[in-house]
Amino acid sequence: MSEQREQWQSTAGFIMAAVGSAVGLGNIWRFSYVTYENGGGAFLIPYVLALFIVGIPLLLLEFGIGHYMKASAPVSLFRIDRRFQWVGWWAVGFTMFGILIYYCVVIAWCLSFIFFALYQPWTGVEGGANAFFFGEFLGAATEDGLRGPFDLTGPNLTVLVALAAVWAINGVIVGRGLRAGVEPVIRVFIPLLFLLMIVLVVWSLFLPGAGQGLTWYLSPDWAKLADWRVWVEAITQIFFTLSLGFGIMIAYASYLPERSNITRNALITAFADSGFAIFAGVAVFATLGFMAQAQGQGVEDVVTSGIGLAFVAYPQVISELPFLPTMFGVLFFSALAIAGLSSSISLIQAFVSALSDKYEVDRTKVVGTLCTIGFLLGMVFTTGAGIAWLDIVDHFLTSYGLVLVGLLEALIVGWVFGGERLGSHIEGAGSFRFSSHYGTFMRLLMTGALAFTWFGLHQAEDGLGTFLARLFVLLSIAGVWLQRSWLDYSLKVIIPVALLGLLDRALAQ
Ligand code: PHE
Ligand code: NA
Repeated sequence: MSEQREQWQSTAGFIMAAVGSAVGLGNIWRFSYVTYENGGGAFLIPYVLALFIVGIPLLLLEFGIGHYMKASAPVSLFRIDRRFQWVGWWAVGFTMFGILIYYCVVIAWCLSFIFFALYQPWTGVEGGANAFFFGEFLGAATEDGLRGPFDLTGPNLTVLVALAAVWAINGVIVGRGLRAGVEPVIRVFIPLLFLLMIVLVVWSLFLPGAGQGLTWYLSPDWAKLADWRVWVEAITQIFFTLSLGFGIMIAYASYLPERSNITRNALITAFADSGFAIFAGVAVFATLGFMAQAQGQGVEDVVTSGIGLAFVAYPQVISELPFLPTMFGVLFFSALAIAGLSSSISLIQAFVSALSDKYEVDRTKVVGTLCTIGFLLGMVFTTGAGIAWLDIVDHFLTSYGLVLVGLLEALIVGWVFGGERLGSHIEGAGSFRFSSHYGTFMRLLMTGALAFTWFGLHQAEDGLGTFLARLFVLLSIAGVWLQRSWLDYSLKVIIPVALLGLLDRALAQ
């Protein structure tokens, strides 16, 4: 390559960018809704286990490999073994591009709702906020329910204009490059986002009925833990929330300087993301509790889906608020838009990095072309059939995209590159010694999770499969303690087995 590879101006810039990618729409509406659906407070157990056993090791992997290879996903994997380059392109080209396109559409809705919050157009509509969002705004409502995927209409003008704005903002930021665009913008976005969220949480806790909402959010339903789908949800949420399996974290880490504390950066990113999600859930549910009380409704009436939460329930709440409703609405939708933009920037940056690592390309041209194509493809989501497509794409991409890429990454790095080699690279680059205390902690945690699986197997029928599963659990516990590197063992065995089981169940559904 002709030019010197760009570098982050500072570690803080890198961490904020990684946190910016991780903290997104998923933290605000996806997490709180998924938690509520999957056992409330009890869901935190599979969630935290998935965070430590799958999430953090894979984050270490993506940061470590990007830093080691100084390249984004396709070229990094190519350098491990040329036969694996396609995995990187699959991650960057298919999964990432797919998510990017619909993610930008949701950001466009958020931008529109910042303006709607100013005059709350849904108050005059028959059917309220629900009819406004699905009907007037999206044009998706018909006499009998929502339009199907092939029930196309023309694009909706408001959404189209907002979508063009979203792509233009993204394009300008990424087009200026890492140092002149992404980093300075993120350094404003992230503190602002955390500040907005603190204001929203405090504000919502003072609303009457907030306590009831928090009970809905967090009161544990332990019986749910016996349902494997809850565990699948936890792992899927971890992938989505940490932006894993896209090649984003690989690309971001490739711009780190030689000496970098990768473990610390990964832990900060993971904890900031989960902390933000749990915290944001407080604001979401406190507000829903208020609304239920004001309208004399139960929780089932106010919690519908992630999308319904943000674009139906919240607008309704805003109109009911006793104090500065407009301001509350503007803050809420601004927080969503900023969280979304800092993630979409990372998606585009990863794509641009992948292309420019491989080919001599002009960044401005690549960004311009990408944003134009993304906008044009995104137009399908601005039609009345858009919302049906959104559901299909989301389901398809999370199962076949992220989780599959995560599985392949773990196998390739574990078995071909070597997990121990990755571990010593990470340790060599920074001062954090994660082999000692952190290693013991991880081993205990993995043993705990395996023991949990053992007890779970009691519910299974006896048979060869169950016998083999029990054997596997015992051998794994032995392996966790006998292997020198916990990271190596989890990449080689634990993560692949967990993800294979998950894929199998997801496909069987
Ligand atoms: N991590 C983002 C979220 O929680 C989702 C995302 C994944 C965004 C990958 C960009 C890239 O919302
Ligand atoms: Na997230």
